[in-house]
Amino acid sequence: MSQRISEVINPIEDTYNLSNYEEIRHVYDWHQAGEDLRFRDTGKVNIAYETIDRHVEDGYGDKVALHYVDGETRTSMTFREVKEKTDHYSRILRSNGVKKGDRVFIFLPKTPECYISMLAAIKIGAIAGPLFEAFMEDAVRDRINDCRGTLLITNRDMVSRVPQNDIPSLETILYAEDIEAAPVEHGGEQVEWMDLEDGMLIHYTSGSTGKPKGVLHAHRVMTHQYESGKWVLDIRDDDVYWCTSHPGWVTGSVYGLFAPWLNRATIVIQGGRFKAENWYQLIADLKVTVWYSAPTAFRMLLSQGDVLKDYDLSSLRHILSVGEPLNPEVIYWAWERLGVRIHDTWWMTETGAHLIVNLPGEKIKPGSMGRPFPGIEVGILDEAGNELPRGSVGQLAVKTPWPGLMKEIWGNRDKFDSYFKYEGWYVSGDLAYQDDEDYVFFQSRDDDMINSAGERIGPFEVESKLIEHPAVQEAGVVGKPDPVRGELVKAFIVLREGYEQSDSLLEDIRIFVRNNLAAHSAPREIEVMEELPKTTISGKILRRELKRMEIEKQKEAELKKV
Ligand code: WTA
Repeated sequence: MSQRISEVINPIEDTYNLSNYEEIRHVYDWHQAGEDLRFRDTGKVNIAYETIDRHVEDGYGDKVALHYVDGETRTSMTFREVKEKTDHYSRILRSNGVKKGDRVFIFLPKTPECYISMLAAIKIGAIAGPLFEAFMEDAVRDRINDCRGTLLITNRDMVSRVPQNDIPSLETILYAEDIEAAPVEHGGEQVEWMDLEDGMLIHYTSGSTGKPKGVLHAHRVMTHQYESGKWVLDIRDDDVYWCTSHPGWVTGSVYGLFAPWLNRATIVIQGGRFKAENWYQLIADLKVTVWYSAPTAFRMLLSQGDVLKDYDLSSLRHILSVGEPLNPEVIYWAWERLGVRIHDTWWMTETGAHLIVNLPGEKIKPGSMGRPFPGIEVGILDEAGNELPRGSVGQLAVKTPWPGLMKEIWGNRDKFDSYFKYEGWYVSGDLAYQDDEDYVFFQSRDDDMINSAGERIGPFEVESKLIEHPAVQEAGVVGKPDPVRGELVKAFIVLREGYEQSDSLLEDIRIFVRNNLAAHSAPREIEVMEELPKTTISGKILRRELKRMEIEKQKEAELKKV
């Protein structure tokens, strides 16, 4: 093992240009960030323009911007084609009355139309709200209602999950098929010039209390996304870059769309579900060079053992991981089987872009998320907001501000302020420690948020849905540790009088959540209890106690195996 470890952690000189990285570690100034971005010269701001149009103006119109793969479907589009399509979508949005600042929701599978719809909305000054494709009706409704979205772009396959009522603000539903079929007009400037502080993207994300919150990002996030794409994704002009996340999650929008395209990368958009054979085939066929995915996916690939030996994966130069703790074992596997290191990255929906990273070529410490991105300062704080010495576990916090930091939580000033309870710091809600060489080691969340397969699931949203089921009186939802998915959604419930526990009833409850909220939020396990543990004073359900009980039970089961 020690031989393996030393090979993995040491900088790889011949793949990466280390002197560049030494330079940015020492010379970094956020005021100069985004050197290639046009707004620096013109003062005109729009991230959609910088993401696509700029490259066409710079003579890269014929470069392939995207490859789309879904089963037998394979298409490609150049930057010029993406620009023209985006303009077409923008014109149609304008003709439907969309104005600067309006919230335009996008509810589409991972297809080029999803990416183009987001850019089209942003280009005309609207705020794009991408929704995860697996959401069901209630999840879609809650999000649009929260920020009073006025227009939704979806497709006819998803119609049954599109809420047709109870959203007073929603004036228009457009179908991508109709936009595609509409005659293309030409001419007319589509770009609405914005201010760096104007909103452009809203992502709904979960915490431990309340319904999902709308995290609003402003156009200024572009410099951070551009720089992290350049330095962390290590994008070069001949790269084929594949991020496996759907744009409804922040990784899928920021590192699936903005950061790579701000750096003029050819991206891969892949539809369909996870299947090891298909993933490897895609890498081999398209000669993917830079690959960004999540520990759950890597663990699933690892568990499929030798499937990978049938594919030529030699194109891979650089791999990154995000969203949940990356096990050292996965790093060793990739090093041994693919000859490439996996670089962990840490950030959050609220932070707009990477904050803690392993820069390509630099020393990796398996088990650590890496070091602060240049220009970012991290602190480990105690309960009073004082910095703890190296090696102590405490609240992972980041010195404010930085360009990617969210602008607001939609309509919820108190929630926004709660991230900044210590003067000068953003508090992440994660617990971690930092070693003497600045490497940060994730320990756990500091709240009840569930992280299943890298997806952030709020227990409150699931509990609220559970108690809408006629048989459920009370519910407490926690993350149960799981070797593949990190955590599983587990629900503890108390049944209403007159209901008897049975497998079919529990299945019915599970399906109720799945059909109304989303498959990934539905509890994989439901346990019926006589009563739930509660605080004596306020009577709040003690999720931590439920989780502690669950972990105890798991430990006992492990011991019985020995
Ligand atoms: C967790 C995803 C361990 C963390 C980009 C954070 C991680 C939350 C890592 C944000 C990592 C993210 N190692 N945990 N490398 N990266 N997390 O908003 O708990 O969906 O607070 O953003 O994911 O999740 P979000």
